[in-house]
Amino acid sequence: MSGQVQVKADVGVGLIGFGTIGRGVVKVLRENAAVIEQRLGFPLTMVRIADLDTKTDRGIALDGIQFDADAKALIADPRVQIVIELIGGYDVPRRFILEAIAAGKHVTTANKALLALHGKEIFAAAAKAGLDVGFEASVCGGIPLLRAVREGLAANRLESVFGILNGTTNYVLTEMESTGEDFDVVLKRAQALGYAEADPTFDVDGIDAAHKLALLTTMAFGAEITFEDIPTEGIRGLLPIDFELAAEFGYRIKLLAVAKSHRRAGESDGPEAIEVHVRPTMIPASSLLAKVDGAMNAVVVRGNAVGPTLYYGAGAGEMPTASAVVSDLMEIAREIARGGRGSVSPMSFLAEHIGPRPLVADEDLSGRAYVRMIAQDRAGVLGRITSAFGAESVGIASVVQREQAVAAGGAVPVIVLTHRSSHAALQRALGRLRGLGDLVGDPRVIEIEEGV
Ligand code: HSE
Repeated sequence: MSGQVQVKADVGVGLIGFGTIGRGVVKVLRENAAVIEQRLGFPLTMVRIADLDTKTDRGIALDGIQFDADAKALIADPRVQIVIELIGGYDVPRRFILEAIAAGKHVTTANKALLALHGKEIFAAAAKAGLDVGFEASVCGGIPLLRAVREGLAANRLESVFGILNGTTNYVLTEMESTGEDFDVVLKRAQALGYAEADPTFDVDGIDAAHKLALLTTMAFGAEITFEDIPTEGIRGLLPIDFELAAEFGYRIKLLAVAKSHRRAGESDGPEAIEVHVRPTMIPASSLLAKVDGAMNAVVVRGNAVGPTLYYGAGAGEMPTASAVVSDLMEIAREIARGGRGSVSPMSFLAEHIGPRPLVADEDLSGRAYVRMIAQDRAGVLGRITSAFGAESVGIASVVQREQAVAAGGAVPVIVLTHRSSHAALQRALGRLRGLGDLVGDPRVIEIEEGV
């Protein structure tokens, strides 16, 4: 094309951690070499791989790629200009990334857990050294979400992020809803099919989604936040009856990650209070996110200029995640060829504009809620339950008692759908319910989010 500067380069990359995604990166670089070069103007070459396990057959030929267990030598190798970190965990990858930066190497990673905990340190080290850190693959795998938030929506004051950020839990919820099976049964099947890890804690307890939400919240609002600041509730303890009743009331249950600005209309200065949480949530069955089934991810980001925008795709898996890693490699390689570094701040806001923001406390929120109780089936129990809500001015929109679902010992599920009320009042009502002596176990609350 006339007027376009053709840069001659051949950027070498090194991979630390040769698991499923690493293999995907090798495949994408090889299978898509032509299109990558047509877009970059020069080849992107994997020169070296390091992994402690050099024995397992990854089922892929490595012609021309040096493969050994020496990550330090890979970092020091002058042919390696970008280091890809795909080992997972916290301490070891943190050390490798900081060592790579100290050695003058750009870095890409898919490690959301690491960034959610040590992102500030890593980005500061890279900025000081004039190097880039790519992490598109860390949130929602193959969906180019971070680039959209960082660049495509940069003109906006962002108002909210609603996301299904974890594929494992979305798969389990979708299956529980469609089969009526218990959580444990579906989780076992998800593990057998490879959708869930042998230790599913990070996924089912919402921690993985909270890691991703921490990064998104910083990028969307400039809010300095770690995943430990995010109130997080996982999907254990949900019962088939919850899905049945959700459908009757016109909702679906999703593990929803929410980050919302509480800036009031017309208010433009001062610290912006942020509502942030991850929890099973009922959303209107007609909403776009409610239609996201199986292991897919989807995110709605709302900006004050653009309105709602929707991102959907595979949030995990070998090739989708590799797609995101290689897109980072290409962006960084382009800068290497031009002799510069990325000029867009990795967290979208310049570092000096990222800082703590007030977080909205749960008791200051309000909304409709679904409350499922297992109650002793005895005279007057429904009256006592409804009075407990009434005594705290929590209005009841619907009450359902399911006689056919009688549990051992004659207990029955009683479900209350509340009108909009403050979470503080609902908590007080729950306190009264616990004091009645009519309930078996604790009530389960599922908040309702109408604005998705
Ligand atoms: N385990 C994650 C999920 C993918 O189920 O979505 C990696 O973050």
